[in-house]
Amino acid sequence: MSPDAPIGMFDSGFGGLTVARAVIDLLPNENLVYIGDTGRYPYGNKPADEVRRYARELAHSLVEDYGAKMIVVACNTAASVALTDLQAELDVPVVGVVEPGARALVRVTHNNKVGVIGTVGTIGSGAYARAVRDADPSVHLTSAACPGFVEFVERGQTAGDEVSILAERLLAPLKDADVDSLLLGCTHYPFLARVIGEVMGPDVVLVSSADEVAFAARDALTGAGLLRAPEI
Ligand code: DGL
Repeated sequence: MSPDAPIGMFDSGFGGLTVARAVIDLLPNENLVYIGDTGRYPYGNKPADEVRRYARELAHSLVEDYGAKMIVVACNTAASVALTDLQAELDVPVVGVVEPGARALVRVTHNNKVGVIGTVGTIGSGAYARAVRDADPSVHLTSAACPGFVEFVERGQTAGDEVSILAERLLAPLKDADVDSLLLGCTHYPFLARVIGEVMGPDVVLVSSADEVAFAARDALTGAGLLRAPEI
């Protein structure tokens, strides 16, 4: 495997581009192949087995058809149910978004009350409950699924009354739980950060896992001796 091979990345749609942006900013010498599975999106309301099948198909295609030297699962729903399988099956490093996001979240909190929002699949999988407990067992996590958010983003509707009203309703449990930091546990949600920030108020820090994932990708590439050198 050569360092010149691309990093392979996938999501159900263009949400994962928030992660791609962070990887490009941190690792500008790397080549990147991105698949947005818009034909089968959304993943968030599909059964775990089906999402796992899609994730395996896309990750194998990135390695076998595009020669990817590493896979970044830029989708929380897919990472929640398929990361372990992909890491076991593929010969290249596989980085997900859940653990890096959980680590960033527990670092930010001051009152030890944190929140995570994600798709029905992600929240239902319990992946964040496990990851936050592993990162810091003293932190109390409140989770909420936000069905509808991804559809708004894919339609390009990231502001307006409809989105705000839905956000008020879905985020109410997080406000009631007095969280001081909220992880956007779906790679589409940074596109809704303004609305989510307005609803949660200025005292709640919004955490996106994108930067943390980029650091994890850099560390994995460095560890495998696959970091691409700058062109001279
Ligand atoms: N962006 C994805 C995630 O992080 C998937 C959203 C969806 O397709 O429902 O979970």
